[in-house]
Amino acid sequence: MSFLRLFVTGLALSPVRGLKLPHTHSQQQVLDVDGAIADTAATNAGEKIQKLLKKAEIIPTVIDDFVPALTLAAKWPSDEHAKLGNTLKPNKLQDAPSISLHSPSDKSNNECSTIDSQSKASYVIALTDPDAPSRDDPKWSEMCHWIAVGRASASSNANTDDPDGNGCVLGFSDLDEVMPYKAPGPPEKTGKHRYVFFAFRAKNGTTDALSPSKPEDRQHWGYGPPEDGQKTHGVRDWAQDNGLVPVAANFIYSKNKKQ
Ligand SMILES: *[C@@H]1O[C@H](CO)[C@@H](O)[C@H](O)[C@H]1NC(C)=O
Repeated sequence: MSFLRLFVTGLALSPVRGLKLPHTHSQQQVLDVDGAIADTAATNAGEKIQKLLKKAEIIPTVIDDFVPALTLAAKWPSDEHAKLGNTLKPNKLQDAPSISLHSPSDKSNNECSTIDSQSKASYVIALTDPDAPSRDDPKWSEMCHWIAVGRASASSNANTDDPDGNGCVLGFSDLDEVMPYKAPGPPEKTGKHRYVFFAFRAKNGTTDALSPSKPEDRQHWGYGPPEDGQKTHGVRDWAQDNGLVPVAANFIYSKNKKQ
């Protein structure tokens, strides 16, 4: 049985390989950020993040499989950081975090060479909760917590005290909110929620300013509850509808202190 399944999967993938598309997995494509992913150090860092996203079941529940080309740093005004699965108290997350994207290149290369040409690109940042109201019963999932758009600019990050940073940083002087930041507020007795950040780029490679749609509702990202047997609606549907592909991700856990 498992042999058959493997065989069928192999057959299903081969036409895609034949077309020489970038890494694809079902519908979502991974953008090759100017060769950054071809860089060995970057690939290793990206694969490490991919593994953590799989372990937390963010891949494939929230997003289709992808290898992050960049790392995403989120730092709240409370000084707390997202660290790919750390647990933070809701009261530390009240105001929108500052976001930066980093080239996971080795520390000896501080010249931003791999991402300089991307410095003026437009990125979309999103924050979603797939565990609303709880991971066991995600009937409101996904909950849209934030959508913001910004143009990044590159600078060397060699001298900052940012623990997530090394090499090269893409910072945002301004992020325009498409959906205002809603602080994580996990209800009582609903366990740990995953709060997942994504950075998206335009699938067609444009560096023009992006203006993605605003979901009509935070619940289900405006798509309504899934039909029987369908996947939960959320950031994946919205990104696809807006021609966006993920290039970076990060996540935290947070829970109500009353459990
Ligand atoms: C590229 O994709 C973006 C985001 O979906 C869209 O706004 C833009 O119009 C597209 N540009 C072209 C040339 O298709």
